[in-house]
Amino acid sequence: MAEILGIGCSHAPMILNPPEEWGNMRKSIYSRIPGYQAPPSMIEELADDNGLVHDRQNQQKIVDAFKVLRDKLHAWKPDVVIIVGDDQAENFKRDNLPTFCFYTGSEVAGYPFHRTLGKINIWDAPQDAKYSWKCDSSFAQDLVAFTIREGFDMASSTELKGWDFGLPHAHINPLTFLDPHGELTILPLFVNCYGEEAGEGYPPRPTARRCYDLGQAIRRFLDTRSERVAIIASSSWSHSFLTHKFNCSKFDEDFDQRNLELLKNGKGSQIADLTPEEIQQSGDHEFLNWLVPLGVLGDRPAEIVETLNEQSQISFKVFAIWE
Ligand SMILES: [Fe+2]
Repeated sequence: MAEILGIGCSHAPMILNPPEEWGNMRKSIYSRIPGYQAPPSMIEELADDNGLVHDRQNQQKIVDAFKVLRDKLHAWKPDVVIIVGDDQAENFKRDNLPTFCFYTGSEVAGYPFHRTLGKINIWDAPQDAKYSWKCDSSFAQDLVAFTIREGFDMASSTELKGWDFGLPHAHINPLTFLDPHGELTILPLFVNCYGEEAGEGYPPRPTARRCYDLGQAIRRFLDTRSERVAIIASSSWSHSFLTHKFNCSKFDEDFDQRNLELLKNGKGSQIADLTPEEIQQSGDHEFLNWLVPLGVLGDRPAEIVETLNEQSQISFKVFAIWE
């Protein structure tokens, strides 16, 4: 049996920014929602300082949670770290968008602060700061071959050429906290979480069941290997601007709290039963990034390191460890 460590975290763009910038982030996102109305709980959080007191507290929670995850990850000394995230029309656009794609190159890099809002970041790093990691292409190719033999039409890519910034934010943002010096060997997996929500002509996202099943196939591969593997689930859960049942005005906390209870109680396999309609209505598109690791980890209770459930956070955030 393989030794596997599980890590769950958020990759929200705001995690890179100081809390003084979060108000601008909210303004930019909600100005794009026609007829947007802030929910009462958020109006309360924003109070008379545009939410700065809450934002400072929540940013500290995020930094502290990432420190717990980083310490755990490095102390555990994984040979390979699989990081599961979605490429949001960054490298993979409608002209070429695989449902699942493993990165099989020998190294990979990214620029987490390239965005206009990334200019002001909590590390005071220059906007063109580059972060690099090595990859085990032989391990990755073996994994691709295994999943294909298991019935998954798996795509692979030895390079990222879709834009100038390498790894998408789903991968680079958590890695900036978890392994800024590129000490770990990583294996990015891309999942088409946004699906048709990304715009006209984009292919649908996979089902929760398919993501979970892929995780189980990855687990069967890992059980044939001697490497110590950590797997990172990278995304917030319900996103307010994707929660169609609430007119994209607030995230679906009740839905996510139910899933959180399942995670805590080692019932992750039940989450694979979520329907595409439930995921779409609750704005949990990116939660599919967690379904693959859940399949790998099986029904193992998660230790919840932190949760952020204030609507001013734009998305429901969970930080978790499976040992
Ligand atoms: Fe995302």
